[in-house]
Amino acid sequence: MFGKITTLVATAALSAALISGSALASSPITIKFAHVVAENTPKGKMAIKLKDLVAERLGGKVVVEVFPNSQLFGDENVLEAMLLGDVQMAAPALSKFDRYTTQLQIFDLPFLFKDMAAVEKFQKSEKGQALLKTIEPKGLVGLGYLHNGLKQLSASTRMKVPADAAGLKFRIMSSDVLAAQFQALKAVPLKKPFSEVFTLLQTKAIDGQENTYSNIYSQKYFEIQPYITETNHGLLDYMVVTSKEFWMSIPDDIRPQLKAIIDEAIAYGNKISADKDLEDRQAIIDSKRTEIIMINDAERSQWVEAMKPVWQQFEKEIGKDMIDAAYQSNM
Ligand code: LMR
Repeated sequence: MFGKITTLVATAALSAALISGSALASSPITIKFAHVVAENTPKGKMAIKLKDLVAERLGGKVVVEVFPNSQLFGDENVLEAMLLGDVQMAAPALSKFDRYTTQLQIFDLPFLFKDMAAVEKFQKSEKGQALLKTIEPKGLVGLGYLHNGLKQLSASTRMKVPADAAGLKFRIMSSDVLAAQFQALKAVPLKKPFSEVFTLLQTKAIDGQENTYSNIYSQKYFEIQPYITETNHGLLDYMVVTSKEFWMSIPDDIRPQLKAIIDEAIAYGNKISADKDLEDRQAIIDSKRTEIIMINDAERSQWVEAMKPVWQQFEKEIGKDMIDAAYQSNM
């Protein structure tokens, strides 16, 4: 009798172990993708595309869960969380990596790229690709560049020339180059999380901010900022990133397929970013809530002249050869 019970218990324990073992073997790899913007943006759409493509082609093996609007993490802590294994993928602005590498600061230099074609050309070059690897020593893997577009300045007062920005408080991303850029205008830069910008503008704690039309539209800044000066003075681009530990934990027969899908989702995001820029610009105009101020060549030269000394300030950290190569991509 006693022997029978022992056998029964042992059998039950064995089958429980087998069930949990097989459940473990078949449970999919989960990728939590955290980002700070709205879903109807180049990054939001790229993340959804990634989720859908993974479900279609790697269903059962990998699953992507997307957390937009800073729901899971803000950009201030997402990379730390990634290194701790609490999130597996993100795409912070290149301006937000300066704790991990100073070389990516190149992308914040004002008036470095004349358009997105120049950005694309530089990023595809050997030097551009090498920059993706500068975060590797910190345990992060750069999976690719994702575009948003060129930035505009929005403010509570009309700005035509750099002197109009003097004394105003601008929210910036956590980048020393961007801080220097506003200091060059004799304005006051404040590093603040993206999720706080709307309230800071609404309560008039700050006077303005810089961002793309996509973010100005999707975050509704245009409803509370009466003026947008179309300067196209800087770039807002992202790096799709994961941790080395997570990336290498993906089985060898899945990783290349997953990388191909990520590349496809990034290409999709990049393709729609230009259209989104124009579309959101038009939606802002149609809203009649704000005025888009265009600047002429002479005014533009003034902005360039005021901001360009920043290049020299960061030349040592970034490397002159790197800056020259990026500048050449405009030709
Ligand atoms: C910002 O903080 O302004 C941007 O990085 C937000 C984003 O991800 O586009």
